[in-house]
Amino acid sequence: MIVYLNGLFLPAEQAHISVLDRGFIFGDGVYEVIPVYSRIAFRLSEHLKRLQHSLDGIKLPNPHSDAEWTQLVNELISHHDSADQYLYLHITRGVAERDHAFPDPPVAPTVFMLSKPLLPPANDLLKNGIACISATDNRWLRCDIKAISLLPNVLLRQMAVDAGCAETILFREDQWLTEGAASNIFVIKDGTLYAPPKDNLMLPGITYDIVLELAALHDLPHQVRRISKAEVLAADELILSSSTKEILAITRLDGLPVGNGKPGVVHGRLYDYYQNFKREVMRAL
Ligand code: PDD
Repeated sequence: MIVYLNGLFLPAEQAHISVLDRGFIFGDGVYEVIPVYSRIAFRLSEHLKRLQHSLDGIKLPNPHSDAEWTQLVNELISHHDSADQYLYLHITRGVAERDHAFPDPPVAPTVFMLSKPLLPPANDLLKNGIACISATDNRWLRCDIKAISLLPNVLLRQMAVDAGCAETILFREDQWLTEGAASNIFVIKDGTLYAPPKDNLMLPGITYDIVLELAALHDLPHQVRRISKAEVLAADELILSSSTKEILAITRLDGLPVGNGKPGVVHGRLYDYYQNFKREVMRAL
């Protein structure tokens, strides 16, 4: 597997970082996950914009211009066989003696990228939907930053795995829907799609934006506003979105069926719109 590290494309087993890297020591860095379809990075400029937002959020200068990122991303894609790839991009504050404060003078950031085949969600998940659990959102107040320090997300996601479920849906103060441990969440009630607002409590998902764009394009009633836990529990349908999972129906929550317990009509519409959109925008057919 060829990866990118600090200016070089090299086999993963030859890519090494220092034990003093602040990403390793403090989780001091940010990342992006970019889906690649037909060898084209999907929504690259939006991912680069969010990357800039994350870098600004941790006061780390962007080591590359968008044009340079585009070139690096395309070169990494060209080193891999799969037409569809899962591209991971990661920047840390670099290598310095251990001290919480930023290195002064600043040191060179560590820039790492890997790519692996992107597999679509299994048919069974598309047909039957996924089961989720709910939990209190106990993360920090800058969840809009795509930070590599993911321990809360790791623990919250593992709660779902331990319960035999796919994802954990998070509620602030046990009351307000934010997102999933690694995904965004939508609620459907009486034919309207509801999404929580993009604020400091959730990651501004690239797929989340596409879902809302598709809803607008196809005249699907939709509203962005705070959503209570009671509304989630009374939903007709629940939908999960992320770059790697695309759009999945949530058919069980905390052991109970969501709506009639099957993927719903609105999920079906959005899923089809998304696949068509991907084909039209991305596929080199
Ligand atoms: N996660 N919220 C969180 C906390 C996430 O980690 C993700 C994505 C999303 C969805 O964002 P997007 O649509 O841009 O993928 C929302 C990625 C896939 C990951 O960490 O692997």
